[in-house]
Amino acid sequence: MNYEHLFSRDAGAFRPSAIRAFAKYMNDPNVISFAGGSPNPETFPAEEIGAIAERVVRERRQVALQYGPTRGLPRLCSFIAQKFGSSPEEVIVTTGSQQALDLVAHTLLDPGDTVLVELPTYIGGTSSFHARSAQLAGVEQDDDGIVPESLAAVAARTRPKLLYVIPNFQNPSGRLMTQERRARVLEIARAFDFIVIEDDPYGELVYVENADTTPVKSRDEDGRVIYLGSFSKVLAPGLRCGFIVAPPAIASRLEIAKQAADLCSGMLDQSIVDEFCASGALRPQIDKVRAFYRGKRATLLSSLAEHFTGRATWTDAAGGLFTFVTLAPEVDTAANVERAVANGVAYIPGAPFFVDGSGKNTMRLTFAKETDERMRVGVAKLASVFA
Ligand SMILES: Cc1ncc(COP(=O)(O)O)c(C=O)c1O
Repeated sequence: MNYEHLFSRDAGAFRPSAIRAFAKYMNDPNVISFAGGSPNPETFPAEEIGAIAERVVRERRQVALQYGPTRGLPRLCSFIAQKFGSSPEEVIVTTGSQQALDLVAHTLLDPGDTVLVELPTYIGGTSSFHARSAQLAGVEQDDDGIVPESLAAVAARTRPKLLYVIPNFQNPSGRLMTQERRARVLEIARAFDFIVIEDDPYGELVYVENADTTPVKSRDEDGRVIYLGSFSKVLAPGLRCGFIVAPPAIASRLEIAKQAADLCSGMLDQSIVDEFCASGALRPQIDKVRAFYRGKRATLLSSLAEHFTGRATWTDAAGGLFTFVTLAPEVDTAANVERAVANGVAYIPGAPFFVDGSGKNTMRLTFAKETDERMRVGVAKLASVFA
């Protein structure tokens, strides 16, 4: 049977993730992988999660194993609201922040609406917007984050409904947007009357002193910013626990969209995260995660300095999980992936992160997965691939 005529128009606009195709290289022990995007399982507080899970299933089955409120467990919503100085009416717990992206896209976008995204940007974000048949327009980024002049120019040309930004240690670039730029983003959003989606799964993963990660949301005076957070990188992504902090009038629409999507996020997951946070264990856990990645980041950066100085530039990854490497303009990183894998090293080519088709000479490297020793060997291998 032919099904094509049965698929919706939106389904016709679905785009498979261009980087999932590289997943097959990530678990081959013979390949040193800078290609992953996942946190390292050694950072997962498995013992604590196990003990809490056992307790909540035994003692709170009427909550942990039952349907719950669409907005999320009230105590968890309050914990999140308190952290952001917002009210619980602004908070919705989601099935990962990926669901938040989908709910926001579903609730705010009509087919053909324009969404502005950074060059480069997170592919899961662009897939959510494509899935609602939106038009995507790219805005330049430099080491200070999104470039205000480019943002204003593209906004004037495209009259967007939304801007999607990842100001803290962006996936894929690892860059931190300066506070001046954040203020400019809001000014431009006001001038052109669009909403800002601030996606922030990496804000707690900081490895340097003086990195100012204060969210754009904290400057939001007229209710223009929808903030997305996640427990995936500080606890474990398998818990699928993210959240939205949005102006109440938007939050109540998102709540209805979520009713249709899944009634409520997993109550066992939420119960575990809730207990973890309420017990005061989150802060020390974040400190452990930072300490775990800090040394790995240093190893990757120093190996790059040893092998690529003068041949490439890379971002300083003051936080998050990635550094983004730019090679000479004539290099095509996608064309070299198979040769690199044959040489025992994998990376993610940068082009899929650019909605304008640029970025062919870039690649994303993560320091999350490999040991220091393997990273040193891996960077030497990369250097020979791009010699
Ligand atoms: C920028 C960004 N947003 C959202 C997500 C999705 O995270 P979650 O596990 O909370 O759905 C990721 C995951 O890597 C990400 O990098």
